[in-house]
Amino acid sequence: MGQNKQPIIGVSNSILKIKELISHVASTGLNILITGETGVGKDLIAHNLYTSSPRADQNFIKVNCAALPETLLESELYGFEKGAFTGAHKNRPGKFKAADKGVLFLDEIGDMTLSLQSKMLHVLQTGEFSPLGSDQEFKTDVWVIAATNHHLEKKILNKEFREDLYYRLNIIKIDVPPLRERSEDIPSLLEYYFKKYSSKYSEEEVAKPEKNIIEKFIQYPWPGNVRELQNCIKKQMVLNDWDKVLDELLNTSPAPPATQINFNTTLENNSDTTSAFLSEFINLSTNSGNLFEDISLKKIKKLACDKIEKEVISYVLSKVAWNRSKASKILKISYKTLLYKIKELNINPQI
Ligand SMILES: Nc1ncnc2c1ncn2[C@@H]1O[C@H](COP(=O)(O)OP(=O)(O)O)[C@@H](O)[C@H]1O
Ligand SMILES: [Mg+2]
Repeated sequence: MGQNKQPIIGVSNSILKIKELISHVASTGLNILITGETGVGKDLIAHNLYTSSPRADQNFIKVNCAALPETLLESELYGFEKGAFTGAHKNRPGKFKAADKGVLFLDEIGDMTLSLQSKMLHVLQTGEFSPLGSDQEFKTDVWVIAATNHHLEKKILNKEFREDLYYRLNIIKIDVPPLRERSEDIPSLLEYYFKKYSSKYSEEEVAKPEKNIIEKFIQYPWPGNVRELQNCIKKQMVLNDWDKVLDELLNTSPAPPATQINFNTTLENNSDTTSAFLSEFINLSTNSGNLFEDISLKKIKKLACDKIEKEVISYVLSKVAWNRSKASKILKISYKTLLYKIKELNINPQI
C-alpha cells in the first residue's frame, strides 16, 4: 500500500511515450493491457500506473494467472465459502475482495483458461462476482491492469482467448518493445543499476564499465531484456571484471530465437533492390566500356545473393555482438561456413 515509486529509466522514444501515457491514463481507471517479452518492465509499468493513480493509497494485488491450475486460480481470484469443496473449512476472501478500491494486476493473462476468461468477462461487465460455493453476488470496484508476453491476437485466432475479453481489457494498450529495439536505453540502465547495486551488494570499489564494454552491451541482443542486464551488473559486483562478465554473457546465454531477429527491417531498406542493383550492375559494365557487355543472369544471381547474404550475416553478427558460434546457429549454417563467408564477403564489425 502506497509503496515507493520505482523509476522507469530510459531515453528512447518508446520509454518517453510510455511515461507520458502513464501520467495521462493513471487517473482514468480505464482497463489497461501491457504487452511485451519477459523482462521488459511490464510489472514495473503496472506498479507505476498504480502509484501515479488516485488509488495509490489502496492495495495493489498481483495475481499470476500462469502459476496456478484452473480451480486454484479461480478460488484465489474470487475466494470461496465454507463447504464449497473438501477442505474449505471456512470462508476465504479472494483477490478481487482484497483489491477492492485498489488495483488488481492480472499477470500472464494470456494463460488463463477459457472458462475462467468467461467468468472474468462477467465480472468486468457487471462489476460483480461470486465466491466459489456462493450464490450471492458481491460488488467490486477494482482497476484491472493485465499483462502478457503472448500475442493475444494470435490466441484469439486460435480460439484460445476470448475476443470480447480482449477488448474489455485492452481499452488502453501499452506495448513495451524489447531492449534490443531501444538500445539507446542501455547506457542509462547500466548507470542506474550500477549505482544501485554498488551500494547494495559491494563494499569494495567496483570498476564502472568502460566505453568499449558499453558498446558491446549496446550491440548484444538481450533476450532476457532488462532483467538479464541487471543480472550482468550483479555479476560484476562479485567478479569485478567486465571482460569476464561479458564473456560469460556471450557464451552462456541462449541465442535469441531466430524469430526475434527482424530480418524485415534489414531487407525492407532494400525494397528497391532490383533497380538499385541493376544500376550498380550497369555502372560496373559502363566502367568496362560496354553498357551491357557483362550482363548475364547467372552473374546477377551470384551478385544479388552475395549482397543479401552479406547484409543478413552482418545484421545477425551485430545482433549477437559478433559471437560467431551463436550467429551460425541462428543462420543454420556450420561455424566453418560462416567463417568462410565472413572472409569471402569481406564482412567487418561496424563499431
Ligand atoms: N525501464 C526500466 N527502468 C528501470 N528498471 C527497469 C526498467 N524495465 C525493467 N526494469 C527492471 O527490470 C526487472 C524486470 O522487469 P519486470 O517489470 O519484472 O519485467 P516483466 O514484468 O516484463 O517480465 C525489474 O527489476 C524492473 O524493475
Ligand atoms: Mg512480469
